[in-house]
Order: sequence, then C-alpha cells, then structure tokens
Amino acid sequence: MRSTLLAGLFSLAIATSSSASPSSEQVVLGPSVQQSQADIGRFIKPKRRPLKGRFLHITDIHPDPHYKSGATFDSGCHKRDKDKKGKKGKGKGKATDADDDDDDDMEMLKDKDKDDLDLAGKWGTAVSKCDTPMSLVNITFDWLKEEWKDEIDFIIWTGDNARHDIDRSLPRTPNEIYDLNRMVVSRMLDTFGTDIPIVPSIGNNDIYPHNVMAAGPSKLTEEFLHIWGKFIPPDYSHVFERGAYYSVEVIPDTLAVISLNTLFWYDSNTLVDGCGDHSNDPGALEMDWLDVQLSAFRDRGMQVWLTGHVPPHMGYYYDNCYLRYGDLALRYQDTIVGHLFGHMNIDHFFFIDVDELEATPVTRSKVGSKKNFSPLTANLSSLPSFDPLSDSSIGIFGAGDVLKVELRKDFQDMPGPKDLKLKDYIAVNVAASVIPTYLPGLRIFSYNISGLGDEKNERAFYRPHQISTDPIDDDEEEDEDDYEEEENDNIDIEKKKPRRPGHRHGKKPKGDCKRPENEDKPHCVFRRLPRYYSKESPSRSNKALTPLGYTQFYLPKLNKQKKKPEWEIEYTTYKKEVLVPSYSNGTGWDQPPPIPLGLLPEYDQTLFDNNGNGSDEEITNKKKSKFEKVLKKITPWKMPDLTIPNYVKLSRKLVGDKDMWDKFQELM
Ligand SMILES: *[C@@H]1O[C@H](CO)[C@@H](O)[C@H](O)[C@H]1NC(C)=O
Ligand SMILES: *[C@@H]1O[C@H](CO)[C@@H](O)[C@H](O)[C@H]1NC(C)=O
Ligand SMILES: *[C@@H]1O[C@H](CO)[C@@H](O)[C@H](O)[C@H]1NC(C)=O
Ligand SMILES: *[C@@H]1O[C@H](CO)[C@@H](O)[C@H](O)[C@H]1NC(C)=O
Ligand SMILES: *[C@@H]1O[C@H](CO)[C@@H](O)[C@H](O)[C@H]1NC(C)=O
Repeated sequence: MRSTLLAGLFSLAIATSSSASPSSEQVVLGPSVQQSQADIGRFIKPKRRPLKGRFLHITDIHPDPHYKSGATFDSGCHKRDKDKKGKKGKGKGKATDADDDDDDDMEMLKDKDKDDLDLAGKWGTAVSKCDTPMSLVNITFDWLKEEWKDEIDFIIWTGDNARHDIDRSLPRTPNEIYDLNRMVVSRMLDTFGTDIPIVPSIGNNDIYPHNVMAAGPSKLTEEFLHIWGKFIPPDYSHVFERGAYYSVEVIPDTLAVISLNTLFWYDSNTLVDGCGDHSNDPGALEMDWLDVQLSAFRDRGMQVWLTGHVPPHMGYYYDNCYLRYGDLALRYQDTIVGHLFGHMNIDHFFFIDVDELEATPVTRSKVGSKKNFSPLTANLSSLPSFDPLSDSSIGIFGAGDVLKVELRKDFQDMPGPKDLKLKDYIAVNVAASVIPTYLPGLRIFSYNISGLGDEKNERAFYRPHQISTDPIDDDEEEDEDDYEEEENDNIDIEKKKPRRPGHRHGKKPKGDCKRPENEDKPHCVFRRLPRYYSKESPSRSNKALTPLGYTQFYLPKLNKQKKKPEWEIEYTTYKKEVLVPSYSNGTGWDQPPPIPLGLLPEYDQTLFDNNGNGSDEEITNKKKSKFEKVLKKITPWKMPDLTIPNYVKLSRKLVGDKDMWDKFQELM
C-alpha cells in the first residue's frame, strides 16, 4: 500500500532509483563510481533576462508523503487514531487513504471538538513537529509559480528536502530521501523552468543517517550530482564529488552564489573532525576551497552570497570551523554581500564579530568539550538535532526561547556607537522554514541593480581591487546623525543604558600567535593574511548588488482547515515609501518595487490614479487609510537597506525599545 502511494506521489520525478537496496551506511566509492542513478539532466546555462532586482530564499521544505490529515501527533501525523474515529464507521477502511480525502476532513470539521485540535491539519500543522504534507508543498509551489516565476532573478534553496525520522514504524531509507529530493527538484523546475539559476545546498536531513557525512567521492555525492545535475556548473562537478559544494554565477561576471556544504563543519557530524589547520579534514579542505573561491571572485570584481544549511554559529560548528568561517567572512567583507542559511526554522539574524571570535575557545578534541563554554550555547547547540522522537515538542520552543535570550544579550552587549568598529562585524540571516515548526515561511530579497546589464555603466559598480586594503586607512564609524528615522518610533537612543565596554567577554590579553590554539584567532589571522574591507563595498553602503531588504511571506491560517490557506506578507524590512511607487519618488528607489504591487495587502491602484474621480472621495479616503494602516503594520523595521551599518542600527533599536523587541520575538 505504501509503496504504491509513494510511487504515485513521485510520478513527477523523472526517474526512481530502483537498483540500490537501502543501505544504512554511505559507501565510499572510488572516482569510477558506477552511474546507477538516472540523470535528471545536465547543467543548463540560464538565459539572461532583464533583472528584477529580487531573488527567493526558500529552505527546509521537509515534504512528507506519509502525512495524513486527521492523524495523531504521536504517529508523526502518519496514522489516524481508529478508536477515536471508529464511531463514525469510517475508520477502518479509510485509515490508509491519502491525505487529500475531503470527506474525512469535512467530517472532522463537523465534529470539531477539543480533541481535533490535536490532530494533523489538512494543509499542515502549525507549531508542531510534523513534517510538510504534499498539500502544503503544492500550495507553496503553485503560489511561487503564479506570483514569482517571472519576478525574480535567481533562487537560493538551503536544504532539507526530506522528512524527519519521526515515525518509528516508518523509518527513512536513503532511497526515499533521494526520491523526495528528486521530487522537490522537479517541482522547482516545473515552477521556475530553467531560465533562472537555482542554487540548492545540502541539508542535514538530506542524508542517511541524518547529520553524518564522510568526505567524498561517495555514493551520496554522486547521487546529488545527478539529482542537481541541472544546477551544478560542469566546472564544479569534481569539487562537488569530493565535498558537495560549488558556486554559480547567478549574474555572469558580476554576482555569484556559493553553495556550501555545512555538514563538514557541523559538530553533530561525527564522521568528520572540524577544520584543523594543515589537516586533511573535509571541513578544512572546504574552507581552503572557499578561501580560493572568494579570492578568485574578488579578483574578478564580483560580489558573492554565501549560502548553506546549518548557520555559522559557535553552537553548531566545530570551534575551528566557526573561527575559520568568521575569519573568511571578515577578511572578504568587501566581496561578500551576505550570508543566508536555514536549518533553524526560526526567523532571525545574528552577528559574527571579531571580539566574539577572539573569545571562542578552540578545543581540538572531537567530542563536545566546547559545550561547557556557556550554558546558553550548550542549550542552544541541542536545537538543530532536536530529537524528533522525543515525546513533546517543548524542546523546540525551549530552544527558541534560549535563542531569544542569547540574541538579546548579544545585541545588548555590543559596544556603543563610538566604540564599535563596523569592519569587525558581519551579519548572518537565518530564514524561516516551509515546514511549519512555527508557521510556514519564505523570503523574497531585493538587491540594488543600478547600472547592471548596462555595459556603459560597468564602472558604476564596486571594483574591490581598486580599493586600498591598508588596515589602518578607514576605520568606519557609525553615523549617529541619521540614526533615527525622522517621524517614527520615539526611540531615544541616548536614554539607553550605557553598554559595557569591550563587548560580551571583556578585554582579555590576546594570545600568542605562535601557539597552535591561537592560530585561527582574528588577531593572528589578520596579521598573516590580507583583510579586505572598505566602507564603499556593497555590504557596507548602498550601491549595485547591495541587499536592499526582504519580505517575509507566511501562511498564518494554516490550521483553519476549511479554506485553502493563502501566502501573505508577514513583514518587510523596508520603509513603507519604497513599497509603493507613488510614494517612492525622492527615496532613490529607481528599480522595480520590492514586491509586485498586487501582493501588497489592501492595495488598489485606483487609490493612486488621479483621474478626477471625486464622486467617491469618502470611500477612497477610507480605503487609503486602511491601506496606510496595513502598510505600517508590515514595515516594523524601516531599514534603508541591509548593509552592516543598518543591521547594527536595527539591533540597537531592538534592544532599546520594548515594543520593538516584542515584535522581533513575535516574528521569530
Ligand atoms: C500535489 O500536486 C501534484 C501535482 O501537481 C498532484 O499530483 C498531487 O495530487 C497533489 N497532492 C495534493 C495532496 O494536493
Ligand atoms: C539548559 O539550561 C538550563 C538552565 O539554564 C539547565 O538547567 C539545563 O541543564 C541546560 N540543558 C543542557 C542540555 O545543558
Ligand atoms: C542603488 O545604488 C545607487 C548608487 O549606485 C543609488 O543611487 C540608488 O538609489 C540605489 N537604488 C536603490 C533602490 O536603493
Ligand atoms: C519625481 O518627482 C519629480 C519632481 O517632483 C518629477 O519631476 C518626476 O517626474 C517624478 N518622477 C516620477 C517617476 O514620478
Ligand atoms: C470612479 O470610481 C468608481 C468607484 O471606485 C468607479 O466605479 C468608476 O468607474 C470611477 N470612474 C472613473 C471615471 O474612473
């Protein structure tokens, strides 16, 4: 029964993997690995089409073909409780039907009582540990096709395209994981075609068993090389076989996305041993590769997004991997426009900064000695591998709370505007997931496209090699004058309590760089290697390729089963003026609006048409004020752009104003 159901659901996949029997280990094969799996296709060079200045970040889809509406949480939303439904006389025969059984759902609605709130919803179950039903996968891709297919320039897709191993009676197999990945690939291709670059990266649940991955070449890397055949440029196929990472020039010669394999850095991966210098650990080799990539893109005057599944956080990475990531992020800050990750299912951002890297203790032993670094971090580090088999979902929310506390402390402990050196900071974005651990979410970013695609204007964008890298030449300072937005907020930065100097861990004497444990500390690395920064680079000031903001979409009414839920704007980072062209004259917004107007709630073009239609002035005014109200609601942050100075300002605002902090937590 199950296999036919599966076969049906996977009919979209171009091929199924039949030959290999599920094996519980990754078999490491030599380079001449047999091509057992069907090829989904070869890399297709995307067409160049006019840039829209937007891209999609989607993550953690976690499709689960076994999901059934009306099933119990105990079964991982896989089985209905026959006893409960038996009285209606439908339980037995129907219990194994697919989840789009409308009769059953209607019946469930009719006798909706308290019990039913504890059962799996038709479109997914918000705030639960259940995975994503196919109905929700469908809603998501249908909406993306309808609204975004022609409105974005590329797609960043940061992993986890298989269900969790929640159900003891239905363990995952490698083949199921590959099949689910193929299914999502075909949904992507069906939705977006091959005209725009799609850049997937591998998640800790895309492998079997989850979290653990050995250095390639292996059956696993071979398999994904096939599954992602259309996405991985042929130049990178050898690198990919080794490590499952690669780069794509999403705007040729201008902008690249690097897809990182974060599993070699993830401390739950017990098959690797971090990023020790001069070692042959796959994590270290990947860092070496990343260094070379960044250097090469920099030499070509390009900008780069770093993307991957597990965020670069000391709670999840081996210490020396975290340090090396931080060093690269800071040393190539004139080339990296931003850092996009998934995995957490919690919408937030955080900083990596020099002080924190200096304070990160480096332990060379393999097993969790870092965990005693701080109780906060220790607790946090249990988040990503939250045990789906454990009985309650409390763990998830507990972890979210810990994260809130940690972020608040980090933001609070940042040095004041006079002391903070912006060049010591980079920001990491972690996006909400499609899987409704909270509510399903995805993100549309916008970035500055001025002068791009216009040969005459080539010089309009930043050329890093023309900028001095002299470490003392430009120490940025926060521009306190434009700190506050004119009209809004009434936040008085001056009233905030003074910050502790020296950041979160106090000033300690810096260690001797000759000692191996200090080798990766910023004060040592920056001495050995060039550190490229400039106030003029796109991650620091608004120019071509600068990230301008994002819009967070979500499905707020997932558990109300009657109607098909609709994707809506949860919030944006923008000021309201830039969302509406009729308002944006004078704001410098000279490219397509961040969100197509039709997707703005309560938007009505006639409100802005001055066609002398005075008859319904009252209605118009009412409509207009309603629209204004909604606009205000979806623009809590009012960021001019997503440069580091503005992220630092936002973090100060967040801890300086209780309402804003409450909002931030709510949005997380
Ligand atoms: C999802 O969409 C696919 C194809 O678009 C369809 O075959 C399938 O029945 C749909 N599943 C659900 C649960 O809606
Ligand atoms: C998490 O933190 C709490 C209190 O801060 C502590 O009691 C608990 O032992 C910690 N959990 C782990 C796994 O360290
Ligand atoms: C993009 O950058 C240019 C400067 O190069 C600036 O004039 C323009 O206002 C920016 N566009 C947006 C939408 O911020
Ligand atoms: C913006 O405003 C200026 C002056 O008010 C006007 O000349 C120009 O046509 C406006 N541009 C647009 C696109 O509305
Ligand atoms: C005036 O507004 C009303 C109501 O919005 C609309 O029905 C009508 O067509 C408009 N007339 C013109 C000339 O735009």
